[in-house]
Amino acid sequence: MDYVNEFPILKTGLIYFDNGATTLKPKRVLDKMNDYYLNYPSNAHRGDYTLSLKASKELEDSRTCVKDFINAKSNKEIVFTSGSTESMNMAIYGYFYHNLNKYDEVLITKAEHASNIVPWFDLENKLGIKVKYIPLNDDYTFSIDNLKESITNNTKVVSIAEITNVIGDTRDIKEITRLCHEKGIKVLVDAAQSAGHIKIDVQDTDVDFLAISAHKMLGPTGVGVLYGKEELLNEIDYKKGGGTTISFDSPKEIEYKELPYKLEAGTQNIAGIIGFREAINYVNEIGLDYIEKYTHDLKKYLVEKLSKLDNIILYNENVSGSTVAFNVKDVFAQDTAIYLDKFNICVRSGDHCDKKLGDELKIKNTVRVSLYFYNTKEECDKLVVALNNDKILEESLGV
Ligand code: ALA
Repeated sequence: MDYVNEFPILKTGLIYFDNGATTLKPKRVLDKMNDYYLNYPSNAHRGDYTLSLKASKELEDSRTCVKDFINAKSNKEIVFTSGSTESMNMAIYGYFYHNLNKYDEVLITKAEHASNIVPWFDLENKLGIKVKYIPLNDDYTFSIDNLKESITNNTKVVSIAEITNVIGDTRDIKEITRLCHEKGIKVLVDAAQSAGHIKIDVQDTDVDFLAISAHKMLGPTGVGVLYGKEELLNEIDYKKGGGTTISFDSPKEIEYKELPYKLEAGTQNIAGIIGFREAINYVNEIGLDYIEKYTHDLKKYLVEKLSKLDNIILYNENVSGSTVAFNVKDVFAQDTAIYLDKFNICVRSGDHCDKKLGDELKIKNTVRVSLYFYNTKEECDKLVVALNNDKILEESLGV
């Protein structure tokens, strides 16, 4: 399929392989946001005139769209945030900070993104909880058996990505939640890399909290979602004081609105939230089953080609997913990225906000190709040709 009408930047010959960091934005999403800014640029939930009522309706229609997208029970369970990092922080500081005690254990893995590690480390410092790692398999993927062995009587939370941002394996959230709930353990899921790639059904998986970023699935930056079961969200103490307080005569008399508004003080990113709805509509039209299969097949294709090159070290070649982590022998990852940029190829290099994974890989920095449905075999071929070139080593050595 040809996507250049929705992504005109692709006409320039750009090869965009950094979708794990952020995806391209379709024109229809930008048009939808412009429509708000041009035709009803008013605040939501604060006006009684037609324009403001329209803004309110569009915003709430977007909430319903997100609710349907992840099959939440009600709109009250959908809190708009600035991104999955804020969503993770809201769940960790707003709920778990108040519900964990000294010696309680939180299980994560070394393949988690910083936003699923740093707040937990902070709680270890503040509360005396213990952050423990579920061991990874030899190929750095997650295993249910390792989870079972890691759970102790003190385990209170399992906090993991559904799809990890470098290795890219998909974790079986339904099975993880089933096991955890049998033991009264709460499950927080970082869905930043899975939303827009695989189907999410929070009622089926029964997760307690789940974090999403709009910009990693065709939406604008600055918009995210925290899903939480209503009874858990209601316990969150992460309120930003502001326009959502309905009465505040004195410190003893602050009354908050109901969910989700009590967690959304201040003017929301209205245009962004409306744009996110259009992004979800587009993803749904393309189809999540199609996206998952297409990107996984494309990864296999790229791995097959790269594994024929003598100068490439692959780190996750046998993992089903849409990311390829690699290095060029004797070349620093950032040098590879700078070299590929000359071919108009965008890849990410570094530790990918995933500093603990380096302990497992025994190397801090890698190059990452992260694929989405608009990437093609022809683009993969061009990457392989660019990498199959002695110049890459010469340039990194400054020869
Ligand atoms: N978390 C984003 C990534 O993995 C930025 O690239």
